[in-house]
Amino acid sequence: MTRDGHEVAVRVRGLRKAFGAKTVLDGIDLEVRRGEFFALLGPSGTGKTTLLRLLAGLERPDAGTVLTAPRVTTVYQEPRLVVARRVLANVTLGLPRPTRGSSRGSSRDRGVRALAEVGLGGRERAWPATLSGGEAQRVALARALVRDPQVLLLDEPFAALDALTRLQAQDLVAELCARHRPAVVLVTHDVDEAVRLADRVAVLDGGAFVVDRAIELPRPRGASSAASDPAALEHRRELLARLGVSPPSGQAVVPSDQVAPPSDQVAPPSDRDDPPSDRADLPADRGVIA
Ligand SMILES: Nc1ncnc2c1ncn2[C@@H]1O[C@H](COP(=O)(O)OP(=O)(O)OP(=O)(O)O)[C@@H](O)[C@H]1O
Ligand SMILES: [Mg+2]
Repeated sequence: MTRDGHEVAVRVRGLRKAFGAKTVLDGIDLEVRRGEFFALLGPSGTGKTTLLRLLAGLERPDAGTVLTAPRVTTVYQEPRLVVARRVLANVTLGLPRPTRGSSRGSSRDRGVRALAEVGLGGRERAWPATLSGGEAQRVALARALVRDPQVLLLDEPFAALDALTRLQAQDLVAELCARHRPAVVLVTHDVDEAVRLADRVAVLDGGAFVVDRAIELPRPRGASSAASDPAALEHRRELLARLGVSPPSGQAVVPSDQVAPPSDQVAPPSDRDDPPSDRADLPADRGVIA
């Protein structure tokens, strides 16, 4: 618990991670509470995915501590569905069996509920190959949801979607997170997305957070209100400036949903192929917040 009584789901202290001679993360401190939405921006190659992998227990820190609540789930840029399994089986794949007397229902029931929550009720028996990109990503969200995560890690989950589908997916994630209240860590290159979704936005650069600011805008934050709200535009301007993207003098900053393709893609998305994380391979030294 924090001093103000909120449950801490992620606690990172003095985290350092190097690959060979290259230090990627150097002294990261981070705390994310249940129900808090934290967005992480930063130039390509600064270690955003590495930080998520450390939180997921897929990498070991070289120094410092990483503590999380026990149930951590990751959604990646690509949905990573098993093509030979139907949609429902993809959602429930690897779910632990409910214990006797559990009130949570069978895996199947939970999978059906999760699909309904992401707007895919009735598509349980569909094959992944018959889904659109946006639908496939919603299946990936349902697969995360059904695990009832206390910590939800999102690594550029909307980056491969077209602009309109992306806005719809953002709305869905905002709604699901408000309902289920995990601690969320979203990695994105899209400043508008970060400002629209997050309670806090940080910029990672040179191994450390160079910005960590609260976004105190009223919710729900529709795409158009987030685009026109002066406070949102100010956050946007300052974050873009920290990312080295400044508008020519005298020119207004145009939100990314008003241009195509999105203007804030500071770097191309990463194409690394990490396995889906359900933390079966948690390192033994990985800490869990009780
Ligand atoms: N397993 C690994 N072995 C060696 N180097 C690695 C490994 N994983 C990441 N790196 C390096 O660490 C740095 C940070 O990588 P990371 O994928 O975390 O960046 P990122 O901020 O997520 O970038 P992007 O925005 O392009 O996705 C990069 O230089 C990358 O090459
Ligand atoms: Mg990355």
